[in-house]
Amino acid sequence: MVKHVALALCFERLNTKPAPYRYVDTHAGIGAYDLQGDEAERSPEWKDGVGRVWEAERAAPQDVRHALAPWLNVVRGMNSGGLQHYPGSPFIAQRMMREADALRLCELHEPSALLLREALGRDRRVKIEQRDGFEALPAYLPPPERRGLVLVDPPFEVGTTTRKADFEWMLRAARGACRRWPQGTYVFWRPIKDVEQVAEFDGELASMLIEDGGIAPEKVLIADLWIRAIGEGKLAGAGIVIANAPFGVAEHLRAALPWLCDLMRQGDGAGWRVETPAAE
Ligand SMILES: C[S@@+](CC[C@H](N)C(=O)[O-])C[C@H]1O[C@@H](n2cnc3c(N)ncnc32)[C@H](O)[C@@H]1O
Repeated sequence: MVKHVALALCFERLNTKPAPYRYVDTHAGIGAYDLQGDEAERSPEWKDGVGRVWEAERAAPQDVRHALAPWLNVVRGMNSGGLQHYPGSPFIAQRMMREADALRLCELHEPSALLLREALGRDRRVKIEQRDGFEALPAYLPPPERRGLVLVDPPFEVGTTTRKADFEWMLRAARGACRRWPQGTYVFWRPIKDVEQVAEFDGELASMLIEDGGIAPEKVLIADLWIRAIGEGKLAGAGIVIANAPFGVAEHLRAALPWLCDLMRQGDGAGWRVETPAAE
């Protein structure tokens, strides 16, 4: 959810300037999720996530509501009769981007790519490619508009194991991308299961962005939310590393994350952070 809240905040900021921009989603997924379908019935975790936010948001402090507003507006827009659908990253992008902006979406798996096409419908701004997003990324950069946002959001989990290769592929993709286009905004998502693994990955990613891409340390932002104690072998939460975070995103996330954490916590070990590597 932090990923989608942050993404919507980035789009909101990009929309403040009239020049067109491009969104690249390397692992796009199916676009939108049916919360009443069989799949959602089998894994009803959404009830403790977006379900709780949906119920509690009106009573949230003003700064929290401001921070969540761009994302929640998209959620509300597809749920006029109560919470039944959840927007994935491509859907948030499609709803928030303007007439002259462009979306480039990669989804490797055919059934998911078909669902994605269905979810987004006919839209001349959108190009969907059924291919490996890590492999495809260099060809998209730099985008012709010279403005934009890249989301790198691989699955990581296969059954209950965290797929280590995705960490490695992500680092490789980040190095290539920030060398080709150091001005771009990048959002890298990763799970939180093991503190050391996350610290090592973040350290490597941040130094790569700073040293290979020449991105200023204060423009690298780490935002995490974990709902239970980390290190019990279970997925505890997730977070993002943003390169060239647009102005205001850090402040909004600092307002929203403590509230989201209190709302979704499962036990004493829950927590959140919004940091730049320079401040560590
Ligand atoms: C975590 S989901 C993406 C969620 C989506 N970005 C969102 O926020 O709504 C990861 C997706 O990546 C797809 N996938 C897995 N490996 C891939 C690859 N190498 N290239 C592109 N897509 C891939 C999976 O089929 C899955 O749909």
